[in-house]
Amino acid sequence: MAPAVVRISAETIRARKGGVPIVCLTAYTYPVARLLDDHVDLLLVGDSVAMVLHGHKTTLGASLEMMIAHGQAVMRGSAKTCVVVDMPAGSYETSAAQAVASARRIVEETGCQAVKLEGGVDVARQIAAIVTAGIPVMGHIGLQPQSVEKDGGYKIKGRTPENVAALMHDADAVERAGAFSLVIEGTVETVAADLTRRIAIPTIGIGASSDCDGQILVIDDMVGLTVDRVPKFVKEYADLRSVVADAAARYAAEVRSRTFPGPGHVFSAKTGKDNA
Ligand code: KIV
Repeated sequence: MAPAVVRISAETIRARKGGVPIVCLTAYTYPVARLLDDHVDLLLVGDSVAMVLHGHKTTLGASLEMMIAHGQAVMRGSAKTCVVVDMPAGSYETSAAQAVASARRIVEETGCQAVKLEGGVDVARQIAAIVTAGIPVMGHIGLQPQSVEKDGGYKIKGRTPENVAALMHDADAVERAGAFSLVIEGTVETVAADLTRRIAIPTIGIGASSDCDGQILVIDDMVGLTVDRVPKFVKEYADLRSVVADAAARYAAEVRSRTFPGPGHVFSAKTGKDNA
C-alpha cells in the first residue's frame, strides 16, 4: 500500500527559516493545483484571484465566498502542499472578533492549513486573536494590494528612512503576534534582506530580495497568461498567451474549413467500441 501523503504544515514552513528556500505560488483552481502540487511547498489562494480570474481592477473585488470557493478547489487539487487562503479586504479589519469569525469560516469550509492577511502594527491584534483560536497566520507587509487605492497606486516601499522604520515595526509586530511566516511585497531589495535577518520567522519575497527565505509569484504571471499589466518583478517562465492564442486560431481555422471534427472525434453507429 502506498504511504499516506502528509501535507506540509504551517509549522514545517516556520521551521524552514534560513534553510532551503521555500517555493510558493498562487493557485486558484483544481487543475492548476494538481499541476503544481509536486513542485511547490506552499500554494496561496491569493485575493489576486479577483483580478486574475474575475477581471476586477484591484483585489478589493474579492469576497469571502469567492476565497472559500477557490480555496475548496485548490484543496481538492492538492495533497502535499501547505495551502494558505487570503482573507479578503473587509473580512478582518473591523475587530479581532470579526477576523477570528472570518478565519474560522475559511478554515472550516476549505480545510486549508492557514490564512493570510495584509498589514503590520495595524492588524497585530487580529493576527494574535486568530493564532490564539488555533489558526496559523501568514502576514503580508510592504506593498499591500488591498491598500492600493488608499496609497494612490502600486508604490514600492522602503525608499525613505521613515518608511524603513515603519516596515521594521510592522515585521516585529507580525512576528510578535504569532504569525508563522511573512510575505514582503514590492520592497527595496536591501530593506527586504534586512527584514529577513531581523525576524525569526521565514520571509516570502515578491518583488523583494533573493535573500528572503522563500519566493512567491502569481501563477498566471509566471506562466505568461496575464493579459493586463505584468509587474517588473515577474519573471515569465512560459508564454501561455501565445500557446492559447495559437491553439484558438488553429481550432477556428479547422472549424471554418470543416476539418474539425475529423474521423477520430466522431461516433459510428456501432455500439460498445467508442464511449465518449
Ligand atoms: O493575492 C496574492 O496573490 C498575494 C501574493 C501576490 C503574495 O497576496
